[in-house]
Amino acid sequence: MPGPLIVIDGPAGAGKSTVARTVAEAIGAALLDTGAIYRGLAYLARERGVDWDDEPGLAAIAATLRIEFQPAAEPGAPQRVLISSDEPGAETLDVTSSIRTPDISDGASRVSRHQAVRAALLDIQRAIAATSVESGHGCVAEGRDMGTVVFPDARHKFFLTASAAARAGRRHKELVARGQAPSRTQVEVEMARRDQRDSSRATAPLQQAKDAALIDSSELDVAAVVSRILAAVDPA
Ligand code: DC
Repeated sequence: MPGPLIVIDGPAGAGKSTVARTVAEAIGAALLDTGAIYRGLAYLARERGVDWDDEPGLAAIAATLRIEFQPAAEPGAPQRVLISSDEPGAETLDVTSSIRTPDISDGASRVSRHQAVRAALLDIQRAIAATSVESGHGCVAEGRDMGTVVFPDARHKFFLTASAAARAGRRHKELVARGQAPSRTQVEVEMARRDQRDSSRATAPLQQAKDAALIDSSELDVAAVVSRILAAVDPA
């Protein structure tokens, strides 16, 4: 029997990654972190000297991009992200932490605006989810356009949001924990710029799907959000 496909969209800092990872662990499903795919592309483009505004150049890299998610070394840690490309001689890079810098966050938001890039990455996302759903384990897919564009037929759709202050506070804490130390104001400014870009782009903007359940996590902790999702997916 196929496993469930659960999609979670929302802006940066709403808690999507932690919530999606915890839901996936709870039900033994795979986690599809689509932001990591855009981040991986931004990273590879930088390595190859392709500008984040060069749509054809980026689409060419996206067309041969390979991405693999591997279980984390220890429970609760983020899964490993490996990228490479179909090109002969391409090496596999472990970009788990190098794609989480503010610079690559900005790059991911910039490369993801381009229609040709998004189109080239559709198949990768659908193939990863299909493998996990067909295996019976299921998949939790998180991003910005999961419910609207990539998996419009998913049965379980959630849109996770929170106030701008709560989101900036969480993101700041996360960066500090990783040893980076931007100021809180810097995080707020960068997040607002990224939100504005992700929500106003012409192609697949950040948007709540009509049939997605809205969860505002401003006043909820991770456990509370996770249990709401699990209750909706598998009502007792
Ligand atoms: O979720 P994240 O912060 O890792 O995403 C990084 C950027 O990638 C985000 O600013 C917008 C883009 N993105 C997207 O356009 N569509 C997705 N499904 C996921 C991420």
